[in-house]
Amino acid sequence: MGGRLEPLRRVAQVAEALLCRAHGGWTTVVDLGCGTGLFAQFLANVPGLRVVGVDLSEGHLQVARRHMEVIKASYLDWEPDDWTPDVAVHNNSIEDYEDSVKLYFFKHVFRWLAPGGYLLFQAYSPRDEPMGPCISECSPDFASKHTIFLCDTERYAELARDAGFEMISSELIHSKGRYPPSEKTYQREFIFIVFWKPLT
Ligand SMILES: C[S@@+](CC[C@H](N)C(=O)[O-])C[C@H]1O[C@@H](n2cnc3c(N)ncnc32)[C@H](O)[C@@H]1O
Repeated sequence: MGGRLEPLRRVAQVAEALLCRAHGGWTTVVDLGCGTGLFAQFLANVPGLRVVGVDLSEGHLQVARRHMEVIKASYLDWEPDDWTPDVAVHNNSIEDYEDSVKLYFFKHVFRWLAPGGYLLFQAYSPRDEPMGPCISECSPDFASKHTIFLCDTERYAELARDAGFEMISSELIHSKGRYPPSEKTYQREFIFIVFWKPLT
């Protein structure tokens, strides 16, 4: 998995701790850009928990459906209709977008998240070798067709604060990943920030 399981595991650990603290009051997590549903698998043994995934890609959702309830939509305009999520999660997706869209994303999530709710936000660090300095070596085809917009912790914190969130904690998660064609081992670095929506 190229070292991506470590940050997902860590985000799931924090999500589980928050859900436990809520003593059964919080039962649903929304996974924004859920992909194939990897994150939900880390929470599979939490009793009574429902994970709802939102993603644009039908191909990814076909796999995700095996682990979770899914909605095919863009998280940039999806909003819950008749309920108010207390915990939203984002893992490695917003890097596809420029900062103006990132700000829009934070504002949009802030609008529908419950007051007192949490956004668990995880993204590639600019120092992550396979997505940052070594991207053309690790993923030449991807790098020739796509631009990826990496930010550091401070920039994400600034954008989320502008949207109204408070930053509760931040950490860097490190792992190692092997990439074809060289099968060389690369250093991975992920940013994990816990944001909170104030009660008033
Ligand atoms: C690198 S994958 C990460 C998937 C998953 N979060 C994980 O960590 O395994 C990025 C995912 O974000 C999805 N995505 C990108 N932009 C999106 C948007 N605006 N709305 C919903 N999903 C989006 C893509 O379809 C893709 O499945």
